[in-house]
Amino acid sequence: MIETDRLIIRPPVEDDRARFIELFTNDAFTVYSGVHDVESANSRFDHMLHMAAVVPYAKQPVIEQSSGTIVGYTGVDVVRFDGINRLEWGWRLVTEARGQGLATEAVSALLAVADESDDGEMLCLINPDNQASRRVAEKVGFHWLRRIDWMGDPADPTDILIRPIGSGGPPLRAPSSWLES
Ligand SMILES: CC(C)(COP(=O)(O)OP(=O)(O)OC[C@H]1O[C@@H](n2cnc3c(N)ncnc32)[C@H](O)[C@@H]1OP(=O)(O)O)[C@@H](O)C(=O)NCCC(=O)NCCS
Repeated sequence: MIETDRLIIRPPVEDDRARFIELFTNDAFTVYSGVHDVESANSRFDHMLHMAAVVPYAKQPVIEQSSGTIVGYTGVDVVRFDGINRLEWGWRLVTEARGQGLATEAVSALLAVADESDDGEMLCLINPDNQASRRVAEKVGFHWLRRIDWMGDPADPTDILIRPIGSGGPPLRAPSSWLES
């Protein structure tokens, strides 16, 4: 468990399911990624539990200390990029929690865990219109690599950013159990 000035970040547990189903099925929370129905939200939460069991900085609940409420998540999942299943960092907060520096606070704290755990290159994918997210990425040490059409679709331009983790190195890859999840 990580404690920052205003937040707690800790691995997800089964008791968090109802809150994450609420969040994953909410349009505002899932902006830029696509809203889930209840079934796919449950699958996504199952996957979150699985990843957290194998990667110490997988996506985790971000909890407001003052209320004990889960206000978002940060951490890694897996994307296939340039033919490799790679770790990709993400962050997402409920609308009421945005604009107070909380994403930067949460991401920085969990990135410190990653820096202590691994050496390699971390990926981050951001919609070019998403300036708040781009700013968070820059504040925590990611830098722009290039812009691509995601899955070859010109309607889905995506900025690719990278950050060295630990002392840096080759791309950080999906855990071996990822394909089973
Ligand atoms: C992206 C997100 C996590 C940022 O959370 P946050 O707690 O508001 O972020 P922070 O306050 O730590 O930092 C945001 C930065 O972006 C800046 N910013 C916010 N909106 C902006 C905009 N429209 N244009 C330019 N900069 C903007 C802020 O000023 C701040 O930078 P600063 O510290 O230099 O002033 C939050 O907006 C969110 O959950 N968005 C929806 C989900 C999402 O887009 N996730 C990322 C997918 S890649």
